[in-house]
Amino acid sequence: MQHYNDRQWWKEVVVYQIYPRSFKDSDGDGIGDLKGIVEKLDYIKSLGVDVVWLNPVYESPNDDMGYDISDYRAIMQQFGTMDDFDTLLKGLHDRGIRLMMDLVVNHTSDEHYWFKESKKSRDHPYRNYYHWWDAEKGKPPYRWSIFDKESNAWKYDAHTNSYYFHIFSEKQPDLNWENPQVRREVYDMMKWWMDKGVDGFRLDVITCISKDISFPSLPEHMPVGDWFPYYAKGPNLHAYLQEMHREVFSKYDCMNVGEASGVNINDALLFVDEDRNELQTFYHFEHTGFGISKENFMYADDDNRDLTEWKKVFRNWDQVFAEKGWGTIYLGNHDMSRMTSRFGNDSIQFRELSAKMLHTFLLSMRATPYIYNGDEIGMVNTNHTNIAHYQDIYTINYYNQLKQKGEDYQGFLNSHSKISRDNGRTPLQWDDTWQAGFTTGNPWLALHENYQTLNVAEQESRPDSVLHYFRTMMQLRKNHITLIYGTFELVDECNKQLFAYIRHSDHQKLLVVLNFSEEQALLDTEIDLANSNILISNYEDPSRNKWYKPFEAVIYEIKH
Ligand code: NOJ
Repeated sequence: MQHYNDRQWWKEVVVYQIYPRSFKDSDGDGIGDLKGIVEKLDYIKSLGVDVVWLNPVYESPNDDMGYDISDYRAIMQQFGTMDDFDTLLKGLHDRGIRLMMDLVVNHTSDEHYWFKESKKSRDHPYRNYYHWWDAEKGKPPYRWSIFDKESNAWKYDAHTNSYYFHIFSEKQPDLNWENPQVRREVYDMMKWWMDKGVDGFRLDVITCISKDISFPSLPEHMPVGDWFPYYAKGPNLHAYLQEMHREVFSKYDCMNVGEASGVNINDALLFVDEDRNELQTFYHFEHTGFGISKENFMYADDDNRDLTEWKKVFRNWDQVFAEKGWGTIYLGNHDMSRMTSRFGNDSIQFRELSAKMLHTFLLSMRATPYIYNGDEIGMVNTNHTNIAHYQDIYTINYYNQLKQKGEDYQGFLNSHSKISRDNGRTPLQWDDTWQAGFTTGNPWLALHENYQTLNVAEQESRPDSVLHYFRTMMQLRKNHITLIYGTFELVDECNKQLFAYIRHSDHQKLLVVLNFSEEQALLDTEIDLANSNILISNYEDPSRNKWYKPFEAVIYEIKH
């Protein structure tokens, strides 16, 4: 068990992720902005969260909604000014909330000064800031690109008769981390933000910064999902993370979390073992990948998720961090569909119950929880199957590509509509007025049509809403340190409907029971619930007889 003398503030916080484009628009242009977030500071405080993670707010042409940065030290005009940023930072700090920025340094925008210079000539001082392949060597070995119109990560540039490498869109060229000057620029920029007062960084696709730059050919017949080692986790990754720690993180009382695509339970501690001085935490994708094909990233089957397998994923990850390191837990973010639709049930009958059940889960696990904006009221997917409703580069480019090749583009969209990123990006539903109180203009992405019944104002006024439940559950986590540091042990592991576990500390034993199904379910356990103290439940009459109603969530304090 993690001992209380290993306590760290960043293990005990709850992080609230704000997608600025969709949070609150203050000036009627249909795009959320920093002043909009400032307007909602008291709301954010009322949630009880400790840290805000802001998706990128830097200057960007928005090919990939801010993940293509053209100036790391300027604010995107659509979002406001640096003064607005300073006001936001102060407003958060005044309320005791920390701010984590998004650090996107695997790639820049092709409109970044470095890339514009790099393109000019083969012997330009900035040439080596990116990965170039001279065309005389022949075509570079194929690499798949997730956002490219032709799924090709190499883009030919006639001016210097070379190809440049981009894992993401052609407007997101990968930085060459082998160049010490690039690393220096990144660390200086990070320190610039830290000196401004930000409290840490979420590190975008950080495992990709080091890759095998000899670019060996890919083995034939390998599923796309297995290509990761050819793009990431290169030979210098740990050296670079240690350097980043030495140069930046070690100098500040700050927090960091890496987006750790490709990291598994076997190499997890290499990243977060405190003695190695790399990262504090990262998030992995094992539990969110269920149902998604490794061949083509289609959503294979949403109804066939085997809960016993899913539970094992959490148990295995918990064990990795039992003595060293620390984990994170999330069920939604800007790259996913809505958690209630994906892991709960978004029908009118079960939407609220399942959202509350999922919050009970997120806030009762041994890991730092990440809550995505809108999930505190249980927002749900739009599931659009018409391409006209999409803004996401991934969806649009992949759809067009299939269409051009004469493949089943509508089949793709039908399946993809359940997991598309735009599901999680629709504007936050503040009230039942026009445009849900998000904007006075036309929103950049259409609202979910249910905003008149599902919105913050309605939930503020109703004591049994998801929002009030979320706040109560937040308070429970703060009041019971066992929920943060206590050991984790699965109960009735083979149960296909119930996710049940014990959180145990020196002074307390808690049993969490979560019904992930829409059927009644029986918990097979010897634990005596009759005399237990019920700390929270999403039903008025929580079970004491080990039978659980659909999506029921209960936390018991077990008497010794
Ligand atoms: C991961 C981010 O979360 C995602 O939104 C983005 O498209 C890619 N990295 C590229 O930066």
